[in-house]
Amino acid sequence: MNDLVRVIPHGLGLINPDENALIRKWGEEAFGQLEICKQFKYHCGADYCVLAYCGEVFVGFAAVSKREVSVGGEPVSMGCVGGVITSPDYRKMGYGSIVMNEVKRLIYDALNCEIGGLLCEEQTVPFYEKLGWARSCEAALVERDGGKVEWPEAFMYHAASDFEIDGREIDLCGLPW
Ligand SMILES: CC(C)(COP(=O)(O)OP(=O)(O)OC[C@H]1O[C@@H](n2cnc3c(N)ncnc32)[C@H](O)[C@@H]1OP(=O)(O)O)[C@@H](O)C(=O)NCCC(=O)NCCS
Repeated sequence: MNDLVRVIPHGLGLINPDENALIRKWGEEAFGQLEICKQFKYHCGADYCVLAYCGEVFVGFAAVSKREVSVGGEPVSMGCVGGVITSPDYRKMGYGSIVMNEVKRLIYDALNCEIGGLLCEEQTVPFYEKLGWARSCEAALVERDGGKVEWPEAFMYHAASDFEIDGREIDLCGLPW
């Protein structure tokens, strides 16, 4: 069966209604009951959506958008990755990796970002580490109720090897995504 990846500009609005409904269903199953999802408001919208297919079956998704954040007080352009999800019937078959490889290409080649960033639960850290992402030792600040709080779970980033993050304040300059 041929695997295929499609990239669609903008957010969910341009994705066909059946696929849109599946993304929402998988998301609701995976994240709907999580405390962390109830505690924060999240940024909606994306610059690109990535969709993966097993033959003609839609099996995986992620979204990425560009945002200027602050690392150690300096502006840094970040490709913010969110909504990463594989259909429950197709997990551990490589689709999450296929989606994340395309996401990485978009971060650097299409969006011209300096680094990639994502917010995830502790239990998903090993998945991203296998793909070359690093867990930040520093907490990341996100917006909540008009103020700034530390993101309580993992902040992960992908950057060139000479990009220094340790010991620098990370302000994600807006809502989590
Ligand atoms: C996390 C998720 C996207 C991974 O997708 P996937 O299609 O199963 O990923 P892959 O098959 O490409 O897995 C790549 C590697 O990561 C490992 N892996 C996959 N999910 C993992 C997880 N949750 N924890 C630890 N390792 C994981 C796989 O075993 C595989 O390892 P291998 O290369 O040694 O075999 C999928 O489990 C999912 O949709 N989970 C629910 C939603 C979610 O938590 N999304 C992340 C939001 S930040």
